[in-house]
Amino acid sequence: MNILAPSILAADFCRLGEQIGQAEAAGAQYLHIDVMDGVFVPSISFGMPVIRTIRKCTGLFFDVHLMIENPERYVGEFADCGADLINFHLEATDNVNGVIDKIRALNKKVGVTIKPETPVKKLEPYLHLVDMVLVMTVEPGFGGQELIPECVEKVKELRRVLADRGLQHVDIEVDGGINEGNLGLILDAGANVIVSGSSVFHNDIDVNVKKFLSQMRKAH
Ligand code: DX5
Ligand code: ZN
Repeated sequence: MNILAPSILAADFCRLGEQIGQAEAAGAQYLHIDVMDGVFVPSISFGMPVIRTIRKCTGLFFDVHLMIENPERYVGEFADCGADLINFHLEATDNVNGVIDKIRALNKKVGVTIKPETPVKKLEPYLHLVDMVLVMTVEPGFGGQELIPECVEKVKELRRVLADRGLQHVDIEVDGGINEGNLGLILDAGANVIVSGSSVFHNDIDVNVKKFLSQMRKAH
């Protein structure tokens, strides 16, 4: 199934609850939550208190994207404050299997994320252990950037590798620079979970969500 995961990084934080409600009412299925530590990426966003608070005002599935060094230190706390799925970066830990095991033990879905320069090959030892692979389509750290076209090729390659290994059930999420103009290409490449920040959280959020969803349904 194709899923839309609006990223609250682009929301108006004065009206966060209201804007999440608009995205939910318009049919978005996930909420993408970008956690940045100022070390793994240059920027700092928000953490557990914000997630714990918004957990009270929405039933959306929380897709937490950890852009933090050594995520094993914090997966327990993110599970506790309301994450449904925890995405961590392959590049951020020396113990990928350990992080996967920790998230599983917390009964949460597991996603592993790769930056634009990380090849699909590096994922191969872990593909049978995860629910999702998040392929970054921009350098992580900031919203509002332009999609890097080479990353779309990585999505195609990953879809092929997953099919060859009988792992079609693994979701491929894409994140960064996705808009109505390039959405078709990304869906054709094989992604089925679509993150969008700045193209959703501006002006008429409900209209933006519905436009994305209608294109995603046609592609399905
Ligand atoms: C970037 C974040 C993204 C970001 C996407 O590091 O991981 O989730 O919010 O924003 P847009 O859609 O504006 O590129
Ligand atoms: Zn993200």
